[in-house]
Order: sequence, then C-alpha cells, then structure tokens
Amino acid sequence: MTRKNLLRALDGECLARPPIWLMRQAGRYLPEYREIRAEAGSFLDLCYTPKLAVEVTLQPIRRFGLDAAILFSDILVVPHGLGQEVWFVENEGPKLAPVRDKAAIGNLRLTAMREHLAPVYQTVSDLSALLPRGVALIGFAGAPWTVASYMVEGGGTRDFAAIKRWAFADPAGFGELMDLLVEAIADHLCAQVEAGAEVVQIFDSWAGVLPEAAFRRWIIEPTRALVARFRAKHPEVPVIGFPRGAGLYYTKYAADTGVSAISLDTTVPTSWAANKLQPNLTVQGNLDPMLLLVGGDAMAEGVRAILDDLGQGPLVFNLGHGVVKETPPDHVATLVAAVRGDTA
Ligand code: CP3
Repeated sequence: MTRKNLLRALDGECLARPPIWLMRQAGRYLPEYREIRAEAGSFLDLCYTPKLAVEVTLQPIRRFGLDAAILFSDILVVPHGLGQEVWFVENEGPKLAPVRDKAAIGNLRLTAMREHLAPVYQTVSDLSALLPRGVALIGFAGAPWTVASYMVEGGGTRDFAAIKRWAFADPAGFGELMDLLVEAIADHLCAQVEAGAEVVQIFDSWAGVLPEAAFRRWIIEPTRALVARFRAKHPEVPVIGFPRGAGLYYTKYAADTGVSAISLDTTVPTSWAANKLQPNLTVQGNLDPMLLLVGGDAMAEGVRAILDDLGQGPLVFNLGHGVVKETPPDHVATLVAAVRGDTA
C-alpha cells in the first residue's frame, strides 16, 4: 500500500504536487455544515455528538477530495474538559468563566478530562474507520498560551491585558496554570492518536503578542515540554506547530520546540521560509484566506508564488489561517485543482 501523501510530505519528501488541506475546512462557509449545525443546536453539542461531528468532518472531504481530514472539534474542549464553564454566543464567539488565581486553578480537574472528552475520541475512531484511502486524519489542540488566553480573559481579547498582567506580575502562579495545560493538552493529543489520529497540529493562534523573554517562557518552553511529553508516547507521529504571528521568532520556534513541521501564517515571506525553515523541516502554508475568498487571478497568483518558492522542498499546501465564513465553496474546488496542476 502506498503511503498517504500528507505523511510522506511530513516525513520530508518533496512531492511533485504537495498534499493540500485547509485550516477550518469544515464550517459555516458550507451550506451542508450550516444544516447539521442547526440540527445540533449548539456548537459544543455538535463537537460532542460523534455522529454529527463525523459528518461535518467528512463534508469537505467529499466535496473537494482533500489529502487530509481534521477532526471537527475546538481548542476550548480542553478547558471545558477540565471543568471550566465554556459557552458560545452567536456572533460573539467563545465565553468562559475566567480563571485568574490559584483558587480557580485548584477547581480544574485533570482526572475528569478523558471521560468528559470521550465523545471526541469516539469521533476520531469512527472517522479513522470511515475515511477514504489516502486521506490522513489530523488531530489537534490549542497550544498552552493560546488556550490559557481564552481561559484567563474569559473569551477573545484585543489587548491580552488580564493574561499578560498575571504572567508578567506573577510568573510562578501563572506557571502553575501553564504546567497543568501542558499535561492536559499532551494527554488530549495522545488520546486522539490512540483513537486513530495519524498527525497532530498545535494551534498557537496568539503566539504573536509577546515580547522576547515572554515568548521564550510562554511559547517556546511550554510547547517544547508538550511536544516532549507527547513524543515520549508516540515518537512516530508527526507534530505540526502553528505559531501564528510569531514573525522573527519563527526560526527559534522551529529549532527549539521539536515540532516536525511548521505552519506559516499569511505574513511569512515564502522565499525566506524556503531558505531558513524548509532545509530543516517540512513547511505548511500559507495562502491568505482572503485570497481564497476573492478567487480568480488574485488567488491563482498567490498559489503560484507559494508553489514557486516552496515547491522545491517538503511542503503541505494550506492557508495562512482558517477559511473565512463568506468564502464561496467553488473557490476551494478551484484551489485544489490549481495546487494539483489539473487544468480547469
Ligand atoms: O479546522 C477545522 O476544520 C477543524 C475544526 C476547528 C474549529 N476550531 C471549529 C470551529 C479547529 C481546528 C478550531 C481551532 C480553534 N478554535 C482555534 C485555533 C485556530 C484559529 O482559528 O486561530 C481557536 C482560536 C478557536 C476558538 C474558537 N472557536 C473561536 C474564537 C470561535 C469563534 C469564531 C467563529 O468563527 O465563530 C470558535 C468557534 C468555532 N470553532 C467554529 C468552528 C467551525 C464556528 C462555530 C459555529 O458553527 O457557530
């Protein structure tokens, strides 16, 4: 049996045509997703109902024939599994009862998490039985810093005031939360692999908001510890790191965290990445999601530039961030054809 293209690329092989999948490839831009989402009621109910979560994971695979499926879930199921209150408000995003001190950390329970997240692992195992041959299954988690930002701020934030205050003024106290998250997230990734995930991705969506010393302490160190803990159990499973917005720290992240591949956000210059990152590890990325939304010549040129700069080394084609809700689904089909070199 030939190996899956995604696994070959993550192993460092340079394929004539790179494998392609998209962050947030399942979601509200697909009418069939909106239908299932309405049936589920709440977003979290959708995440915790294996039959429905399997269905929405498979929708983009059926439509576009991508090289990988990513488990349909969310980074916030980890704090939810630890016992924090988490809910989603329509058009506002996630809300959480903030964790801002030692007492609140003390209320979080690692022991209950695996049981709480059993439906997520059931979804992974159902998917691994159902996926078409050749399609790899990706599990994921948020990185400690990004998950902590939602936990401490109580939702999305513009300035990261509460989490920075805590991390800068009381690093030892905040460090206890981060240590707990390293353990919980490693366990969550291991459980996904034990249920059938073949690759995992760590989403650090808010890696780009810290000064240098704090970047080392709260991005590099916890991610390194997380990857080491995961690798101790599953040394053969590729880990993709996505330190969105890390800018000049991309090289340090790639060198020091132990990830097997690195996902580039939209702003990372591809010619730079070809010289500085790709000689050492597989790169993934990084079409601007708004180019996918716009489509046409603008998208075609964006695709060409990425393939020209990164196509000579190990590459996984992806976006620089998630698919935007207003994206016409046809544009995704056109993108897949362009990356595969199929003439329209
Ligand atoms: O990529 C995929 O297709 C897999 C599913 C996936 C979701 N969220 C589904 C989702 C993944 C990998 C995530 C990761 C995630 N979740 C991140 C990291 C990646 C990133 O985008 O930066 C973050 C920060 C979150 C937290 C989160 N979840 C936010 C901020 C929101 C609200 C934003 C929005 O679009 O409403 C969510 C909700 C969410 N997660 C939706 C989906 C499809 C929309 C929920 C809905 O259907 O109403």
